[in-house]
Amino acid sequence: MTAPPSAAGAASSVSAASPDSSRSSPGSALAELVDITKTFGALVANDAISLSVLPGEVHALLGENGAGKSTLTRILYGLSQPDSGEIRVDGRVKRISSPADAMEAGIGMVTQEFSLVDTMTVTENLMLAGVGLGRINRAAARAKVLAAAERIGVSIDPDAIVEDLSVGQRQRVEIVKALFHDCRVLILDEPTAVLVPQDVEQLFDSIGRLTSAGMGVIFISHKLHEVTRIADRISILRRGRIVASRPAAGLEPRDIAALMVGAESVAAPVASAENETLADALATSIGLDPADLDGPSVSVGGSALPSAAIRDRSRATRATSPISEATALQITDVTLGNDGSRVLDAVTLSVRRGEILGIAGVSGNGQTELVNVLCGTLTADRGSVMVDQTEISGLDPAARIRAGFGRLTEDRKGSVIPGLSVGQNLVLEDLDRFRIGPFLNRGAVREHVQKLIERFDIRAQPGDPIRSLSGGNMQKVLLARAISRGPKALVASQPTRGLDIGACEYVYSQLRALRDEGAGVLLISEDLDELLGICDRIAVIFSGRIIGELPAADATPEALGLLMTGHDTGAADDSDAAVNA
Ligand SMILES: Nc1ncnc2c1ncn2[C@@H]1O[C@H](COP(=O)(O)OP(=O)(O)OP(=O)(O)O)[C@@H](O)[C@H]1O
Ligand SMILES: [Mg+2]
Repeated sequence: MTAPPSAAGAASSVSAASPDSSRSSPGSALAELVDITKTFGALVANDAISLSVLPGEVHALLGENGAGKSTLTRILYGLSQPDSGEIRVDGRVKRISSPADAMEAGIGMVTQEFSLVDTMTVTENLMLAGVGLGRINRAAARAKVLAAAERIGVSIDPDAIVEDLSVGQRQRVEIVKALFHDCRVLILDEPTAVLVPQDVEQLFDSIGRLTSAGMGVIFISHKLHEVTRIADRISILRRGRIVASRPAAGLEPRDIAALMVGAESVAAPVASAENETLADALATSIGLDPADLDGPSVSVGGSALPSAAIRDRSRATRATSPISEATALQITDVTLGNDGSRVLDAVTLSVRRGEILGIAGVSGNGQTELVNVLCGTLTADRGSVMVDQTEISGLDPAARIRAGFGRLTEDRKGSVIPGLSVGQNLVLEDLDRFRIGPFLNRGAVREHVQKLIERFDIRAQPGDPIRSLSGGNMQKVLLARAISRGPKALVASQPTRGLDIGACEYVYSQLRALRDEGAGVLLISEDLDELLGICDRIAVIFSGRIIGELPAADATPEALGLLMTGHDTGAADDSDAAVNA
């Protein structure tokens, strides 16, 4: 899959066969990481990695959760120091010991976790970040915001308070923040993981503007379909090493998937059944055109290959045993907000035992609020929530969990206690089980934690700080915590966001297993392929209302897409009886 020499532009200077992308012609790279090694205790997160970024290119960095992508880019941005190796900027060795050094060297980064202060305005945030700019007054900062926004082709209100902005808007502010300095290399760590399809298009447009102006972009993503669209060059990391690096021209998602699994990964210490599933998923994906899954009105495009594969596969694995008539989770008339501006409008849904009910919708249509109401972190103005036969709406979050309610919310960071270890976070909601009188049975806790780490294939030690975990592994901790209690009803919101193909498959297998054990699962997701893949029924939320509901077997991305944009379709009429019943 070698690109014709002219087609890939700057990227053509890289030998396609070379696993070492630093061999671009000397001096041509904007920035280079050379032989970078970084260890955390016994773990080698980056093993002699070399990587460069050229002017005008998008260099995509791929690899499973924990492969070392964030670690490597954090080193380039000065957030972390390598054990050995060097960084070159414009061909010259440069010591980057802090983000301020990186910015000064023209390197900017938008990390996986945003770093804006919610209560401040856009301009104030950028003034706060104005390290190295000297004293800057508000008017000048405001003007810079507007200029940077124009550079990326978006409009940003400099006076908006950050907490009022959508995720997509916040990300634009982060990019503007990175561009504030004379940035020539922009690192985007999984920028699309948190975006709805429309925002992904906007981001790609912005990236295109920046690269046309000669900037280099390092783009990290798990979505192969996106990578083939936007990258000029791809590098794949596996267990801290670059295993492939080549021009992207001509590569299809399936080619990248093949490079990613490679022969080596069979030896990876993942449970062998999981490897089979992954291999299976990838095999099924071959010959699948993700574009076939795109809806016409809502761009559900950029459908990642993994979920496309999973969707196809799991049609066969949907609940085969009859779904029980008994209700696991009954949400009735849940309403939030006054008549004029209802955030949730008489939401009524019932999830039966042994069933996965999906909720589709463009983000911002009440999903987050609904999840918060169910978890007990937000109080609805009216309505009832029952788990099994127990009314839980008056209970605090902990009491809900004791009543058999499980949750996997989209706010991963907010769901763990950052100062605690992996083990402590795993048993956080479960300590009652391990109490003997006033004491904690520490031996039993240790054993339980060890079991969970093994069962859920969490790549960490019980004593590791939770904040050191990669996104995928942190999600596994949360999943383990929620599922190991055997909840009667589980609410899972965006459970596979930011996860690699293997981890996605794993999450699906766990949700299915829980369903097969008789629990009811409410799955909230923006990924239609995911919903179509594992749900038994799919409801659509729009403007705080459930506006339609379909059996998953009859649902299509087109029908769901129409509902998601507020169009009532004929397809939904059939099941009107079930809607808001
Ligand atoms: N501060 C830290 N302390 C200990 N271990 C760490 C630390 N930061 C990262 N690691 C470990 O290094 C490895 C690489 O992590 P990294 O975050 O770079 O992975 P990643 O490729 O970005 O994964 P993801 O796709 O999940 O974001 C992981 O095993 C992670 O647990
Ligand atoms: Mg990462």
